Amino acid sequence: MPVTLLIEHLDQLYTVPGPSPRVGARQGDIVPILDGAVACDGPTVVAAGTTAQVRSQIGLDDNTTVLDGRGKSMVPGFVDPHTHVVFAGDRRDELRRRLAGADYAEIAAAGGGILSTVRATRQASEDELVSQTATRLAEMLRQGTTTAEAKSGYGLDTATEVRMLQVVGRLNTLQPIELAATFIGAHEVPPEFRGRQTDYVRLVIDEMTPAAAPYAEWCDVFCDRGFFTPEESRAILEAGVHAGMKPRIHADELASSGGSQVAAAVGARSADHLVRIDASGIESLRSAGVVATILPCAAFHLKLGQFAPARALIAAGVPVALATDVNPGGGFSPSMPFAMALACFAMNLTFEEALVASTINAAASLDRQDRIGSLEPGKQFDAVLVHGPAVNLLRVNATPIAGVYKKGVLC
Ligand code: NIG
Ligand code: FE
Repeated sequence: MPVTLLIEHLDQLYTVPGPSPRVGARQGDIVPILDGAVACDGPTVVAAGTTAQVRSQIGLDDNTTVLDGRGKSMVPGFVDPHTHVVFAGDRRDELRRRLAGADYAEIAAAGGGILSTVRATRQASEDELVSQTATRLAEMLRQGTTTAEAKSGYGLDTATEVRMLQVVGRLNTLQPIELAATFIGAHEVPPEFRGRQTDYVRLVIDEMTPAAAPYAEWCDVFCDRGFFTPEESRAILEAGVHAGMKPRIHADELASSGGSQVAAAVGARSADHLVRIDASGIESLRSAGVVATILPCAAFHLKLGQFAPARALIAAGVPVALATDVNPGGGFSPSMPFAMALACFAMNLTFEEALVASTINAAASLDRQDRIGSLEPGKQFDAVLVHGPAVNLLRVNATPIAGVYKKGVLC
């Protein structure tokens, strides 16, 4: 059968095959194919293997583009399963305070943090949010991200939360990155509900959740000390499931606060951050098959002083995924390769474990493992071309990325 695209003679091809997610020893058990090739028909991978194998399986005709990959490597397109990429405003003043020693809680108490972005986002029109977010998505695409999650959570009123989710829907048709929309009305308590958190939780459950559900695939809660309790988080996620959304959760970032146990109890696909997860939390994730989505760029930029115990999670048999946490506060980096570098150099993952965490396991975090996350026949051709060996991805800021393919098209 003739193919539309053949990329051959790649120095290294990492197909990162399933089954997904990859757990325990399988998290890092991948090897590069030398002299690799990938053939596609339109957006779909038809064959992947050595150049000789692929050439023997496919046909070429006048419409086939044949590219020589010598001197380059290829990995699946990165999946970024946790971002707050939709927002308005600017929090660089907060950065200055953080560099001078203020922590997350102090900044939030002084009216900064999430609430400062809420003020700006409520005032922004849908068009403004679309255009500002598109700029950030273009940066992510250049860093190899071909699929990403995008949360609401800077509206904290029904109209703005729905507007943010509609922005995600519009951006899905306007630029190459596929976006998965997540409703997180319980990201913070808005100023008009200060001291009335229970009333706000009722609003989230009774009004926002049903209004958001038609626009969101996922529901999420910031379950942590100073934000939402495990009991509130569980009630909110159960309401989300009832409305037709799938649950995921911010858990154990600022304190060991019960979020991982809530993730297991509600059947969350992913529990995210996990900087302070303890042994019982790890066991909860393992027994319920929850993906641990780790955000080392946030731990780094917030100067949390520690990173999630990724080695212990892998050893316990919890699938580990990586994400950037792009956001206006501590989410400074749009780069999955930077998250991979921190995973390797600050959390002791191998390059292969970090690559799995950014591709096939990140696809599992977003429940897209059947369609993306690996370069296998039948899957979507989303891929990153790298100058030299794939491990060059860890050379932060050295521009190792030579090209990004989404659905078979060079972006
Ligand atoms: O994942 N933890 C909650 N939300 C974000 C921070 C969002 C913000 O600071 O605006 C996070 O780190
Ligand atoms: Fe977050």
